[in-house]
Amino acid sequence: MSGLVAASTAALALAMVASCSKPKAEPSADAKALFASVCARCHGEDGHGGLPLYEGGPSPRNFADPDFQRAFTDEDIKRTIRDGKGAGMPPFGATFTPEQLDALVGRVRSFDPKAK
Ligand code: HEC
Repeated sequence: MSGLVAASTAALALAMVASCSKPKAEPSADAKALFASVCARCHGEDGHGGLPLYEGGPSPRNFADPDFQRAFTDEDIKRTIRDGKGAGMPPFGATFTPEQLDALVGRVRSFDPKAK
């Protein structure tokens, strides 16, 4: 079941990445768009997390929680994106380029209330 979700998510992400390969002037807008189209359906547009995907399942993290921001290094976040976590967070593997991974980390960091 989670394998299916992960596979379709990766396919969706790939299609999305392929369809918008045009370089854009503003990287942060790209990062926002990438997060919004790939991550937000679970993590929320505002990164506050959401309901568990299934009953009893883990809830997506609240990225606006300072404890989360302190506890995770940029590498931790990239590793989670690549390898996934538990039954809820799909592994994206090689879906994203290193630049896109950096952009996603930047977007996750932007939810930190202390970064504002
Ligand atoms: C299918 C839903 C889903 C999608 C899509 C998704 N996530 Fe997650 N994510 C989760 C869930 C659920 C957890 C909590 C997993 C757990 O604690 O077992 C999580 C956890 C995380 C964590 C914290 C890892 C940890 O160790 O607690 C990070 C960082 C993260 N996601 C980033 C992202 C990013 C960036 C994207 C987009 C590239 C993304 N996620 C896409 C569901 C999702």
